[in-house]
Amino acid sequence: MEVPKISTGIPGLDAMLHGGLIPGRVYLVKGAPGTGKTTLAMHFAMAGVANGENVLYVTLEEPAENLKVDMSRMGFNLNDLRFTLIDATPMAERYVLMNDFFEEFAANIEKMTEAIKRQFQEKRYTRIVIDPITMLKVTATKEVDYRKAFLAFIKSMMRLKTTVLLTSELERTNIEEYLVSGVIELKMFEVGGKLSRGIRITKLRGSGFDDSIRQYEITDRGMVVYHDRMISLP
Ligand SMILES: Nc1ncnc2c1ncn2[C@@H]1O[C@H](COP(=O)(O)OP(=O)(O)O)[C@@H](O)[C@H]1O
Ligand SMILES: [Mg+2]
Repeated sequence: MEVPKISTGIPGLDAMLHGGLIPGRVYLVKGAPGTGKTTLAMHFAMAGVANGENVLYVTLEEPAENLKVDMSRMGFNLNDLRFTLIDATPMAERYVLMNDFFEEFAANIEKMTEAIKRQFQEKRYTRIVIDPITMLKVTATKEVDYRKAFLAFIKSMMRLKTTVLLTSELERTNIEEYLVSGVIELKMFEVGGKLSRGIRITKLRGSGFDDSIRQYEITDRGMVVYHDRMISLP
């Protein structure tokens, strides 16, 4: 029997995932800047909101104001009460936003884990996005410490029974890929002078999945995945 799944908010991607993501686990979306990680993450977040769930979105690179403008152009409404946006970008005007609380989300993975747990004392979130985790990794001094902290983070999230989507633009994400339950890769190719986008699931624990590279586009309605179109490389 198939396990229950939740939607990513992108029908073509749900099809590739044989119905969606198994809830209560941690997933990684990796790709170079501009491949559409934030767009994919926003679909995932808004699918939760549409489903009546509380969603926590931690933005570490794109300031909240920019994110709201960019995403509203694609039809996403970030002002829903079920959607909590935490701006942990270095540029955030903290003296306006108040305390040093948001800073904890960006300091390192241990502090972020604690900050998320504290956030749960007010509300239960069933979906969390950390976009991207890149800086949290860069600030870690020792690889072995980072690995331990990352594993502790995953365990904490599983205990909270929340589905987490992490984004990363790093080429090397071996530790993360090994520890998370699923990995989705976004790639841009140049085919005959034309930009082409390809999406591929490289890992998915507990479920079958489509392992081909499929075509996707970013449109004024967000990400569209063509699960029946293989990407043809030159
Ligand atoms: N309305 C749109 N139509 C087509 N492409 C768009 C539109 N809005 C944004 N994009 C493209 O989407 C990409 C940005 O996606 P984003 O999710 O921010 O990527 P990432 O988070 O991986 O850097 C850019 O390549 C941008 O050109
Ligand atoms: Mg982004």
